[in-house]
Amino acid sequence: AYLSNIQTRSSYKMPSQYFQYKGINFSPPSYTPESLNFAENEFQVLDDDVYNVTYPKSGTSWMLEILSLIRNNGDPTWARTVPNWLRCPWYETVEGQEQMKDVEPPRAICSHLPHQLFAKSFFSSKAKIIYTLRNPKDVMVSLFYFSKILCLYQDSGTFEEYLEIFLKGEVPYGSWFDHVKGWMKMKGQSNFFYITYEELLKDLRGSVVRICKFLGRDLDDTAIDSVVENSTFKALKENTMSNYSLLPTSFMDQTKGSFYRKGVSGDWKNHFTVAQSEHFDRVYQEKMKDCDIKFFWEI
Ligand code: A3P
Repeated sequence: AYLSNIQTRSSYKMPSQYFQYKGINFSPPSYTPESLNFAENEFQVLDDDVYNVTYPKSGTSWMLEILSLIRNNGDPTWARTVPNWLRCPWYETVEGQEQMKDVEPPRAICSHLPHQLFAKSFFSSKAKIIYTLRNPKDVMVSLFYFSKILCLYQDSGTFEEYLEIFLKGEVPYGSWFDHVKGWMKMKGQSNFFYITYEELLKDLRGSVVRICKFLGRDLDDTAIDSVVENSTFKALKENTMSNYSLLPTSFMDQTKGSFYRKGVSGDWKNHFTVAQSEHFDRVYQEKMKDCDIKFFWEI
């Protein structure tokens, strides 16, 4: 139903004109003011929900897979038979709100929403949030390529042009800086866990163990091993339920580039000139000066 829904929407074939909801860019037709208003004001969070929250390109699909596998004690059957967007829908999208109706608790739900637009009902619930963040230079590079294959997003143009667009936050979901500062205000709360993409890369097993602990899930060593094996870059790239190859090219055109593109840390060094990197660092320092958390990429 989801595929036929998006296949019949001819507007996916055209690059979107973004609209603003409360000052943040969103891309129609997957996002509408109504879907965002519903997500913010009416959506009912359940106490046993787990939210996979990210700024785009920070490891959303990776965490989604880890959560799908943990939910089933490492058994990969669900992850190999059901598309990832039906396992853990993006609850702020028009399609995701339809898909949510079939998701049975305990639910894992994805969101790219900034903190200020997140479901109000979350803040009086016991639901949990896992916030994954990534070196913003690598996020920008990943988004630069992704914008060329996801028909919902405006084409990123040249790297030089996109750098300014990204730094100004004129991209879907707004500024990386505001997103991170907004969510990181929850640091220290017992229902909030944050992890970096780079930590997942460096020590996937150790990260899975930490995630299980946060979720209160006691998986044995074999189950943990299976979560790790089935959530590597190679495993995800090969899993048709996770690599988005089931989507029509009018929605995501992977003839122009792969969703699972490189899966490494530091690819920004192959893209930024020294001057661009210094410019990025200056903007970073200015925008993040009121954030008391130091990330490894600032060192
Ligand atoms: P690259 O474009 O740098 O390769 P999101 O799911 O938030 O859209 O993030 C997508 C990015 O995460 C892509 O980055 C993708 O390759 C990377 N990624 C996804 N799964 C991964 C994994 N298991 N290991 C390493 N990187 C992964």
